[in-house]
Amino acid sequence: MSASKLTTLLLLTNALIGTAIAASSSGCTANKALPNGQTPGGDTVKVAFTQSDGTARDYLIHIPSTYVSTTPAELIFSFHGHTVDASNQESISQFSNPKFNPNGIAVYPQGKGDSWQGAPYADEGVNDIEFVKDMISNLTETYCIDTSKIYASGMSNGGGFTATLACDSSVNTLIAAFAPVSGAYYIDSSTCEPTAIKVPCDKGDRIVPVIEFHGDADTTIPYGGEKKNGDCLPEVSHWVRSWSWRDGLGLENKTTYDMYSGKVTRSQFPQNSSDPSFGKVQHYKTAGLAHTWPSKSSTSYDATPIIMEFFGNYTL
Ligand SMILES: *[C@@H]1O[C@H](CO)[C@@H](O)[C@H](O)[C@H]1NC(C)=O
Ligand SMILES: *[C@@H]1O[C@H](CO)[C@@H](O)[C@H](O)[C@H]1NC(C)=O
Ligand SMILES: *[C@@H]1O[C@H](CO)[C@@H](O)[C@H](O)[C@H]1NC(C)=O
Repeated sequence: MSASKLTTLLLLTNALIGTAIAASSSGCTANKALPNGQTPGGDTVKVAFTQSDGTARDYLIHIPSTYVSTTPAELIFSFHGHTVDASNQESISQFSNPKFNPNGIAVYPQGKGDSWQGAPYADEGVNDIEFVKDMISNLTETYCIDTSKIYASGMSNGGGFTATLACDSSVNTLIAAFAPVSGAYYIDSSTCEPTAIKVPCDKGDRIVPVIEFHGDADTTIPYGGEKKNGDCLPEVSHWVRSWSWRDGLGLENKTTYDMYSGKVTRSQFPQNSSDPSFGKVQHYKTAGLAHTWPSKSSTSYDATPIIMEFFGNYTL
């Protein structure tokens, strides 16, 4: 190999290593011990946490068996629904299950009053967006996390909150992709027209990847939208189109019918499957599914591996 070729190779290698270091967090130090009681592949642990405005919070954390302090891991947040808790969310979303998520750290934050910012019943004094930013900053210091691979998902009110994060340019720049499930996308409006509303959102410039799951037999957060708790719930396909429109991916989709034993209609945006942005907004409408997380016990497929595959396509 010539000297100039070798120099080029060394420069390339350095550039690649530089990229790898830039993407990982400052927590990647050789032999840095896990916090007390936490072991790779061990039990999920509850952690007490103080957010920067002084509010006492907590979350559950699961460390995958593959975790080592020198290899940057993905970080996946999973937010629970209203009136249920972080532990319930771990059991329905299964992000601690190595079969679905072998390598990512799973975090299940606990909402104050079992609810999340953005819903009409949430405690107005609680700043959950700040809580998430504070957790990201603390977790990336404490563990070896790939900061380009932080993801958010959630159920119902937690799905609505996942969308609230996607819509906030101060936090959506820290999270690579979003997966709300049976989400409650409350809009503060006196007159409720579920299909007429352009859901307000300050998402910034990013094309924000979003995958949404909803059952057409959901009576809690109905697919067709309704007026609820004094606010408006949008019609779900309209809400998804709003995301595609905001992301600049158009209002038309590529539709795949009768997936998963005929239960699922999948919409992928933009419609042109050759477009480099194809699939950045997706929707799984599930026939006969009620207000729940799609799994083999509630319908014909598991949503979690589909979410993991979607997350795997996107990094910051
Ligand atoms: C992260 O939070 C934990 C729990 O509240 C705390 O003990 C620890 O000091 C924090 N670490 C950093 C780097 O802020
Ligand atoms: C995708 O297109 C199909 C066919 O036009 C339509 O029925 C469906 O509602 C669209 N999906 C979304 C999320 O808009
Ligand atoms: C689809 O996208 C490809 C790649 O960007 C482009 O070349 C092609 O013209 C597009 N097709 C249509 C129908 O817009």
